[in-house]
Amino acid sequence: MERTFLAIKPDGVQRGLVGDIICRFETKGFTLVGLKLMKVSRELAEQHYGVHRERPFFAGLVDFIISAPVVAMVWEGDGVIASARKLIGATNPLMSDVGTIRGDYGVSIGRNIIHGSDAPETAQQEISLWFKEEELVSWQPTSTPWLYE
Ligand code: RTP
Ligand code: MG
Repeated sequence: MERTFLAIKPDGVQRGLVGDIICRFETKGFTLVGLKLMKVSRELAEQHYGVHRERPFFAGLVDFIISAPVVAMVWEGDGVIASARKLIGATNPLMSDVGTIRGDYGVSIGRNIIHGSDAPETAQQEISLWFKEEELVSWQPTSTPWLYE
């Protein structure tokens, strides 16, 4: 089973969207295997967004990510990496489809509510950057036979 890393950013937490966002992934049929509310260190934020280090928005992005708590999560399921990106929507919330998280709740690229890993390699890297192995729980939901043929 595939796993992905998702993080509800400070704007999502401050705006009271944690419950709704978790609900969307749960009701889609994915399995929560890691969850923690945390104040992110500057070092972790810089590592997480390291690929964007040279971009003009990098400093503001890091300052934003450490400005309030973040909800870090690992979700599991067939095709969860690409599917979660679809549920999240395009990077700029004004361009995101209605029905996606960013499309329903955002108006600004720098306040786009949630992060999702973009590929299997980054999912693996981000899961090990944000979570210790013992913080992840492998379990079998009783709904599995009703979700998978
Ligand atoms: P994320 O990594 O947060 O899930 O977002 P993403 O893949 O959809 O977009 P990415 O290109 O990885 O950009 C990371 C975050 O940087 C901010 N950003 N600002 N001002 C800008 O032009 C700009 N471009 C990107 C966004 O908050 C984006 O989520
Ligand atoms: Mg990204």
